[in-house]
Amino acid sequence: MIYNEKDLIEKTGLNLDQKSVDLLQKEKEGQLLSSLDIHEVAHLFTNPESYFFRSLSHLELIKKMSTENISIWFAGCSTGQEVYSASLMLSSISDKTLVGTDLSRKYIEKALSGSFFVFRKSEIKSLKKYEQLPQSQLHLNNNKKSLDVKFSSIKKEGISFDIHNLMDGPYNSAFDIVYCRNVLLHMTIKGKKKALRSLKDGVKEGGILILGDTDPHIFEDNWERKKHNNAIFWKKKW
Ligand SMILES: C[S@@+](CC[C@H](N)C(=O)[O-])C[C@H]1O[C@@H](n2cnc3c(N)ncnc32)[C@H](O)[C@@H]1O
Repeated sequence: MIYNEKDLIEKTGLNLDQKSVDLLQKEKEGQLLSSLDIHEVAHLFTNPESYFFRSLSHLELIKKMSTENISIWFAGCSTGQEVYSASLMLSSISDKTLVGTDLSRKYIEKALSGSFFVFRKSEIKSLKKYEQLPQSQLHLNNNKKSLDVKFSSIKKEGISFDIHNLMDGPYNSAFDIVYCRNVLLHMTIKGKKKALRSLKDGVKEGGILILGDTDPHIFEDNWERKKHNNAIFWKKKW
């Protein structure tokens, strides 16, 4: 079976080239794309880059907007660093729901493990700050120039992870905040449109949507563009 580039683009919304299709072909020789679970192979053609406290101004916006019982969906969270970063920043808030989803099962399994190897200086510095908090969920093991990071009590902190394709609609439709950065930029125009629909449908009335800096703007009467410090976000008015 030869994988079809068009099929793969349609299924993921991603702006893929023949190289990604060839890679998939090589890895999964002999299996039909239609009979293949897209979540099982997504790591072969997606970019998983993520790190702790990335887009700090947007995480600070989340902190400012969060009160008890807040629910936040991190769509396209890759291996989960943005979810864990938010959880550390929101550690004083009880009964929160932080859901991270991604197309790739492999990335979600990594996120669920709660174990990371960190070598960026800025990440190490920030993580060390949070380890000092009383009852921290964070365990750090210093090596010479890197850090082994382990998050415990994921459930207690209200964190969950799941596989989800943004081409299939919202994960659920009642989130106070939907956060999706560095995901849509890898998509085709059609893919972006579909993904944006899913993200907008995931926000409850009065809730907010946080997108990437280069993502499309929303021109609909029930959405208002807002700014907090350097962070742009969209409020769903009704
Ligand atoms: C560059 S990472 C961004 C991770 C994280 N949001 C961040 O900013 O650090 C992009 C992620 O989008 C995910 N992705 C791509 N297409 C997707 C889709 N159709 N549905 C859900 N996630 C998708 C990829 O699997 C990848 O993990």
